[in-house]
Amino acid sequence: MFKDKKVVFSGVQPSGSLTIGNYLGAIKNFNAFSEEYHCLYCVVNEHAITVRQNPAELRKRTYETLALYMACGLDPEKNTLFVQSHVPAHAELGWILDCYTMFGELSRMTQFKDKSAKNADNINAGLFTYPTLMAADILLYQTEMVPVGVDQKQHLELARDIAERFNGIYGDTFVVPEGYIPPATAKIMSLAEPTKKMSKSDENENAVVRILDPRDAIIRKFKRAVTDSGNEIRRGEGKDGIENLMSIYGAFSGKTMEEIETEFAGMGYGDFKLAVGETCADALAPVQAEFDRLMKDKAYLETVMKNGADQANYMASRTMSKVRRKIGFVEIK
Ligand code: TRP
Repeated sequence: MFKDKKVVFSGVQPSGSLTIGNYLGAIKNFNAFSEEYHCLYCVVNEHAITVRQNPAELRKRTYETLALYMACGLDPEKNTLFVQSHVPAHAELGWILDCYTMFGELSRMTQFKDKSAKNADNINAGLFTYPTLMAADILLYQTEMVPVGVDQKQHLELARDIAERFNGIYGDTFVVPEGYIPPATAKIMSLAEPTKKMSKSDENENAVVRILDPRDAIIRKFKRAVTDSGNEIRRGEGKDGIENLMSIYGAFSGKTMEEIETEFAGMGYGDFKLAVGETCADALAPVQAEFDRLMKDKAYLETVMKNGADQANYMASRTMSKVRRKIGFVEIK
């Protein structure tokens, strides 16, 4: 089914607390690629342990992440969904690529600088070499396109540099991947500070609406959303809060900004916020129901993981043979 298609790869952190920003900006559109590309979506649990994790939590969140992506519509028959640690080649290629990555390059990664500032008591070597493991994730599958957020652009550039360097030494081995930053059609901002992006790690729970938030929490968060002192539901200077609510409403309802302005002309902020909250909660209800159903069926989730791992291991083994041969590792049958 995946034969001869170009490859899309993306890594997703095992976190069950994705926001409506993740949903509208990325996950909802993932399926669109699967006609044209062979898409691999990998739950990157090896990346997760660069910061200390509670083992039971990490295990649970691995299932949850898979279930959540599937509940959002990712079809395991049409995409390869798998868990990173089920494919040992990630760690193996990660090590090899470490030897083709410069200390200076890794030192320049802004995410490393941020994360080591935040985890000053645990600046481990994995945190430092994380971008090489990410490069291995991508290069293992001869990936052409990597959908990522802007925060991952620098890591993707490094993956391209590593691929080019390796190809330069040994001849064509890896496809040099392109990043794909989804168009900002649905850029969802914080409900508390509407000039800032909605972030799943925001400490203020009222600022973020999560895909799995219960209906009453969703409605309450929208009710408390920061707006302005005016009373008109329209776009404009100083109306970031209202504009954000309008784009969320638009993204869930399929209505344009103009249509929304007409629909709510003459209505107050309170009514509008309630309408946004209800529309969002209604749209997420089927996703949540499907998530609950999947989480009760661990055996099925494990079957999906197993099939995904088989497909990924097969693809990875082809790249690995090539790599081992090129660098002079003896292969025995
Ligand atoms: N580093 C990415 C993040 O934090 C996750 C990730 C790991 C990834 N490996 C990847 C993304 C490969 C794209 C491709 O979001």
